[in-house]
Amino acid sequence: MLAVDKLHAWYGRSHVVQGISLEVKAGEIVTLMGRNGAGKTTTLRTVMGLVARRAGSVRFDGAEILSEPPHRRFRRGLGYVPEDRRIVPGLSVRENLRLGLLASPRLREEQRLIERIAGTFPRLKERIDQDGTSLSGGEQQMLAIARAMMSEPKMILLDEPSEGIMPVLVDEMFALFRKMKESGTTILLVEQNVERALAISDRAYIMDHGEIVFHDSAANLIANQEIQERYCSI
Ligand SMILES: Nc1ncnc2c1ncn2[C@@H]1O[C@H](COP(=O)(O)OP(=O)(O)O)[C@@H](O)[C@H]1O
Ligand SMILES: [Mg+2]
Repeated sequence: MLAVDKLHAWYGRSHVVQGISLEVKAGEIVTLMGRNGAGKTTTLRTVMGLVARRAGSVRFDGAEILSEPPHRRFRRGLGYVPEDRRIVPGLSVRENLRLGLLASPRLREEQRLIERIAGTFPRLKERIDQDGTSLSGGEQQMLAIARAMMSEPKMILLDEPSEGIMPVLVDEMFALFRKMKESGTTILLVEQNVERALAISDRAYIMDHGEIVFHDSAANLIANQEIQERYCSI
């Protein structure tokens, strides 16, 4: 579904992503792990079209999208939840969800899609008319994920979704990722919570200093303490 090949990205002169290749097949959950500063966020941003200086190839669903603007990628069915949740202050939970459909051809199905999402995220349903920013940090993260799911993307990129969230909500969130996978959503997950991420993943890639230094099945990585300690301790 997603094939990244020899991808490079720069911020100014700083060469942050240095020729990485990775693949996510339809229906998989793949985790991208690595220390702070390794280049994980920049990789997701480049896949979404948010980094100006880049080279290489990003194929999604068979099409080369490297040069497409972000909204085209979104319309192809690529969803993204950035590190900062960007819940819009002054808008209710419902209105924030509606934003997830703004550039989507499905705007007319809004009511059905909101009901469907509310069924999957009971915490949001209870608070549907509250101001989005009145939710707890974890609930705001759920809202950001729900908003990205509104357009029913084929694939979603999640950047450290469990960061700074209460353990009980982290459990709910990982259960939700399993459900999303079961309903056919392909997931590329960036996570510091390596144990939790590997438990729900099919495969994982480890990134260090802008390069992919290791990749394997999640099962093999769970058993490989040495690699985890070498590359994944903050
Ligand atoms: N907007 C930016 N401008 C310049 N440098 C950046 C910017 N964002 C990130 N960087 C640098 O790029 C490197 C990789 O960052 P990032 O992709 O955020 O890593 P990770 O998500 O793995 O922690 C870091 O050295 C970081 O300081
Ligand atoms: Mg990051």
